[in-house]
Amino acid sequence: MRIVFLSCLLAILSGFYGQTSALIPLPAVIKPGKGSFSITESTLLVVKNKQDSNSVRFLNQYLSTHYGFKLPVSTSATSSYIELNTSLSGHSNSNYYELYADDKHITIDGTDPAATFYGMQTLLQLLPVQKTNSLKIKGVHIKDSARFAYRGMHLDVARHFFPVSFIKKYIDYLALHKFNTFHWHLTEDQGWRIEIKKYPELIRKGAWRNGTITGKYPGNGNDGKRYGGYYTQEEIKEIVHYASERFIEVIPEIELPGHSSAAIAAYPELSCFPEEPSKMYYPKNCQWHGDSTGKQVQQTWGVFDDVYCAGKDHTFTFVEDVLSEVMSLFPSKYIHVGGDECPKNNWKRCPKCQQRMKSENLKDEHELQSYFIQRVEKYLNSNGKTLIGWDEILEGGLAPNAVVMSWRGESGGIEAAGQSHNVIMSPNKPVYFDHSPNKPEDSLTIGGYNSLNSVYLYEPVPQKLNVAKHAFIMGAQANVWTEYMDNTKKVEYMIFPRMSALSEVLWSPKGKRNWNDFSVRLQEQRKRYNLWGVSYNRK
Ligand code: ACM
Ligand code: ZN
Repeated sequence: MRIVFLSCLLAILSGFYGQTSALIPLPAVIKPGKGSFSITESTLLVVKNKQDSNSVRFLNQYLSTHYGFKLPVSTSATSSYIELNTSLSGHSNSNYYELYADDKHITIDGTDPAATFYGMQTLLQLLPVQKTNSLKIKGVHIKDSARFAYRGMHLDVARHFFPVSFIKKYIDYLALHKFNTFHWHLTEDQGWRIEIKKYPELIRKGAWRNGTITGKYPGNGNDGKRYGGYYTQEEIKEIVHYASERFIEVIPEIELPGHSSAAIAAYPELSCFPEEPSKMYYPKNCQWHGDSTGKQVQQTWGVFDDVYCAGKDHTFTFVEDVLSEVMSLFPSKYIHVGGDECPKNNWKRCPKCQQRMKSENLKDEHELQSYFIQRVEKYLNSNGKTLIGWDEILEGGLAPNAVVMSWRGESGGIEAAGQSHNVIMSPNKPVYFDHSPNKPEDSLTIGGYNSLNSVYLYEPVPQKLNVAKHAFIMGAQANVWTEYMDNTKKVEYMIFPRMSALSEVLWSPKGKRNWNDFSVRLQEQRKRYNLWGVSYNRK
């Protein structure tokens, strides 16, 4: 009986949303308006400010891709039209916009161009999800703004490499969900993916591995195929520009001092022990393919002992040279330097690292790691950039101005916020999207289970955190590690619909979060995925 009742309710609600809208993330205030407005190819798009040209471009591109027509753009109109404007003032909420639709016009007005852009994204979600040439929108009044300032999605392009065309798609997916940050994980043990002019071996050697294990770690073999790829500096600039047109900041991650086997393969002197072959560090139960002499890019997953030597000044020269080129490519306020999972075994037996500890008065290797990060932070700060690191950067003492990305649960984030540092929450439960979305898993994943429901119910501000420190939680991010995603369809399958759920966590008012309501809106969102032609988890 209850099931019958529930399905009736779902049917009624989905009918309601089907006719009005199924907006994700849900706006703060939605009220029904008068009549309805039909968008056709003769509807004028009125835009008074040049600063709204990004919204115009995105809107017309979306209409043209999915409905087969574009709107003529004008600076004024008399009869029926859509107007985009950035003229609201006096609202302190971030990214505040208002959207009004009635039988005469649709107006979107934001407090800044990004807000207008988000209003335009809401308009896209008011469109019918089936292709037609007259797009009817029911009258509606929306007032909306972002809850968190940092709304991020990460992508690891090192374990598996994805072409520029997919990176752009990924950025579009972020824009369509009102995310504003793309965390681009560019360097790893299994591949270096960014061209650095001063160190050409990074891509010549570091971007390629001789094979990859097959199956779940430790694997059942090795495919024996040379695998790799990298982004040229021109491609990086193109992507950063593409993202900026969508009000998305791209934060590059250049991993140090661990996860650095690919850089060491290119420049062995960065290791404490340049003469030791990488094969020596390779797990015995994983298969290796090809040349086993010298330093090589890794062919299996995990954590490797061969890390940057913290004792040699040359390491810091290298790191600063690399970061100097990185900073010239990425205008972001932040540079992510990793800092996670750095084993200390080599540092313990390296005379140069031990000497550094003595001369710097460091009591253990954790303090040596902290020295490493603090030295890099000084360099970044002197260039006007802020350092972000994974929560291991707390160990041995936090660099003075660092932002902490909390991934091993929330405790690192709570501790950092307690020390009045800014924090981005990215706990492996529930926002690691490499974990299976289903139980039992229906395709190979790294393991774990992060259900859609657990993502939807995630609250970035921990209850345990003292209220006085809440403002240090900038927001949250989902991470997409790609050991077990070797193609773009798999990436889409792992992020959808979980990123839709996360977008609501990050954007919508906390008090409006309602799983049943979201589940109903998701039915319409699935049709939108179909319209976009993306792969998604249907369970
Ligand atoms: C991480 O997942 N190692 C940050
Ligand atoms: Zn060393």
